[in-house]
Amino acid sequence: MSRGEPMNIHIRPSFTQVTITLIITMIFSSMPLAARDPVSDRSSEGMVSTACSAATAVGVAILEMGGNAVDAAVATGFALAVTFPSAGNIGGGGFMLARMDSGTVFFIDFREKAPLAASGNMYLDLTGEVIEGMSTIGHRACGVPGTVAGLYMAWEMYGTLEWEELLEPSIRLAEQGFTIDSHLASSLQKLMKYDTGYPGLRKFYGENGSPMAPEDTMVQPELGRVLKMIARDGPEAFYRGTIAEMIVREMEKGGGLITMDDLNDYRSLLREPVIGSYRGHTVISAPPPSSGGIVLLEILNILEGFDIPGSDRGRAGVEHLMIEAERRAYSDRALFLGDPDFIEMPLGRLLSREYATRLRNSIGEKAIASSSLGEALSGPYESEETTHYSIADGEGNVVAVTTTLNSAYGSKVVVEGAGFLMNNEMDDFSSKPGVPNIYGLVGGKANAIEPGKRMLSSMTPTIVLRDDKPLLVLGSPGGSTIITTVARIIVNIIDLCMSPQEAVSDGRIHHQWMPDKVYFEKGTIKKSTLEDLESRGHILVERSPIGDAQVIMIQENEMCGVSDPRRGGSSRGARKVVRKGVE
Ligand code: GLY
Repeated sequence: MSRGEPMNIHIRPSFTQVTITLIITMIFSSMPLAARDPVSDRSSEGMVSTACSAATAVGVAILEMGGNAVDAAVATGFALAVTFPSAGNIGGGGFMLARMDSGTVFFIDFREKAPLAASGNMYLDLTGEVIEGMSTIGHRACGVPGTVAGLYMAWEMYGTLEWEELLEPSIRLAEQGFTIDSHLASSLQKLMKYDTGYPGLRKFYGENGSPMAPEDTMVQPELGRVLKMIARDGPEAFYRGTIAEMIVREMEKGGGLITMDDLNDYRSLLREPVIGSYRGHTVISAPPPSSGGIVLLEILNILEGFDIPGSDRGRAGVEHLMIEAERRAYSDRALFLGDPDFIEMPLGRLLSREYATRLRNSIGEKAIASSSLGEALSGPYESEETTHYSIADGEGNVVAVTTTLNSAYGSKVVVEGAGFLMNNEMDDFSSKPGVPNIYGLVGGKANAIEPGKRMLSSMTPTIVLRDDKPLLVLGSPGGSTIITTVARIIVNIIDLCMSPQEAVSDGRIHHQWMPDKVYFEKGTIKKSTLEDLESRGHILVERSPIGDAQVIMIQENEMCGVSDPRRGGSSRGARKVVRKGVE
């Protein structure tokens, strides 16, 4: 099937299609779904899908009190900063993509920036080698945080409730505490190996001085106080007032570079999202400084020229196409993408049909070597924290937010007196062209460190429209794997007619050009599929689960929220929504 020739896909299938879908699902789905059922819910009043049930509850409560999806997204963002401290944040950054019922689409870039004192060689020793750990842990790893500015901008533009009302639930969660679940308890357990170097982390210990256990209550009075300041004074408190002073003091203590000027200068930005199409659907996603939307659309543009469900390729054949599309798109990521305020990027060419056709025509039955697309490099593959949430209200507004401290608990630096963690987002720059970051991603000059520049991201908050109405609101954490997770879910739903639950549960495979390896989730892909891929020349590496997608699918005003079974998220629908002006 050629590009621009839409497939006749009926997402709400007839009996015949159900049968076909069942057969396709049996062929393609190689994972015991019953063992990995995602958390899902349905509602026509509104839906919130996040990585954490306490934050989901906040979003739902805001919808039920008559707030719109933007109100709920702002409140949920602050709640995650309290209840999901590994990635939810006020000391980090992220991206918000929204489509209002009116058809207006907006994208807020609240990505961190390099401090003004940053320089291209700040993580290199005198011989020009990268100093290990300097961009990933401690005060020097921190970028200027953007979350408070970004959430405030969203509220100013489209919020309907009072700003203080949106902060109130997270202040309560911080001051009165919330119950720790097993996921948080086990992640805190791992965090504590850093507590000698970063004593601020001891705020996460229980009263008896040992790591908190499931069912313990986490109370964070300092964070509660800071959130109250933000509720009262908005971003002013964070970027100019008491909180700014606390951040600067903390930076001075540990040799960090963020100054009062950095905080005063920080602005979240409205950017044009990238918009493409896939088999008759409109795909709206994150523009640079995220690579997410560009790489996603490049992958989908290449795939659109292949008849995925109609062929007899089997699982391995489809995986081969996806891997080869990913290889090519990620190679462009490394070569071309960075902060649009600092570099020129050939985005028109990268997203053109001609380019997709050229890349597609270069795909054969066998794997090609990544080095044939650029200089050969390889690197480690590590931590993939970040968090995504998707929200839809009953009025047709949808919001997708991906936000991050970069790796779990960011730089491990807790701002003294303020009780929140700072990011280690500086590692998302390429410290030295060709040397991989913690995600094994390599970059070149386009993503080199410069003062005030935003580091390249992979975050991919995405909205898919069908017949000009939201069909999917989705995204995932997972560092470099975010983009392939989002691509896979879209292909599973649009090409393979999977239900959103199946699409999310389905086993994941990932390739990112360098290292030249195909990563597959342990225990999810059939042996015969793996053998077929190996016979095509792919180098396979088994790994831990990939991503933590939060997806909302909307059909005929019914929303189905699905939280990935991989980590323990929570999707919940709104029930009794108080409509304004209605008694
Ligand atoms: N720090 C992960 C990302 O922005 O992609």
